[in-house]
Amino acid sequence: MLTATRLVGRIKFDDASLKKDLKVLSELPSLKEQYDEFGSGTWINHSLWNRTGEWTDTRYSDYNHPAIRTQVGTATSYLSGIIEQYFDLEHLRMARVRNLVNGLVIPHTDFLELSEDKDRYVRILIPLETCIDSYHTEERFGVFRMRKGDIWILESTLPHSALNLTSDNRRILSLDFQYADIPNPHYSSIFSDPSICDETIAPALVSRTRLEPEDLQDYLELLSTRFNDKDDAEQILVELSKVHLRFDSAVSDIYKNLTTVARLTRRQELVEHCERMRTFYIGSRVMNERFPLRKGLF
Ligand SMILES: [Fe+2]
Repeated sequence: MLTATRLVGRIKFDDASLKKDLKVLSELPSLKEQYDEFGSGTWINHSLWNRTGEWTDTRYSDYNHPAIRTQVGTATSYLSGIIEQYFDLEHLRMARVRNLVNGLVIPHTDFLELSEDKDRYVRILIPLETCIDSYHTEERFGVFRMRKGDIWILESTLPHSALNLTSDNRRILSLDFQYADIPNPHYSSIFSDPSICDETIAPALVSRTRLEPEDLQDYLELLSTRFNDKDDAEQILVELSKVHLRFDSAVSDIYKNLTTVARLTRRQELVEHCERMRTFYIGSRVMNERFPLRKGLF
């Protein structure tokens, strides 16, 4: 499916019903995150619909039957009702609510470990609860805020990232669809009720300014003085991601800058570590490959 990051519609939620479901999610115990190495800070993920119907199953994989509602999907009946009412259940493979608090979704590219035929996946993100200082960024689209009820297509085969600079909840309903059986499908196939589809809504883009090369260089040199061992790489990545929010640059530049910081230390093992990070997150990955990061540094 040919997609590009774009705002494709908006859902008007019933706030009282939505709050009830969000409370159910808040009261669930935290699970060990399957994709733990993709978050820094607090990143909580609850499966509403998935391959097995088990809420503890947070793994994404290719399969060829409609997603099954989990125990959590049943307990959050308003959200499951929205999914059933508006979206193409036959091609839905996963529905998750993801909460990012005071944290960073490490800049990454999705589906690197899945099949070659990446254009058959489409991911929709719908914020349920936003906070004033949370952002998304995508390699070509730039930095933007997702507003409550927005229906975003995120081109997740390009490098992308998210940050919440506050300790308030930022919860998003993430829906994954897979169209293996339809040649060249249009993304509008995801809607079973197209009344919520509206491409005229203006996205909340964040305007950024130019960062002069010498200012960037000064900052990278400063960061290099804090880069003492491999465990420091994650914190430096967080700092570089914050800079990216305010100054014009591509998501992949975060890794370019990280490697420059490592080079400035003149320590080969740090350079190699940062190059491995870049490869794992936005270069190439095989199924079940992991990348251990030190946690909770945001
Ligand atoms: Fe992603």
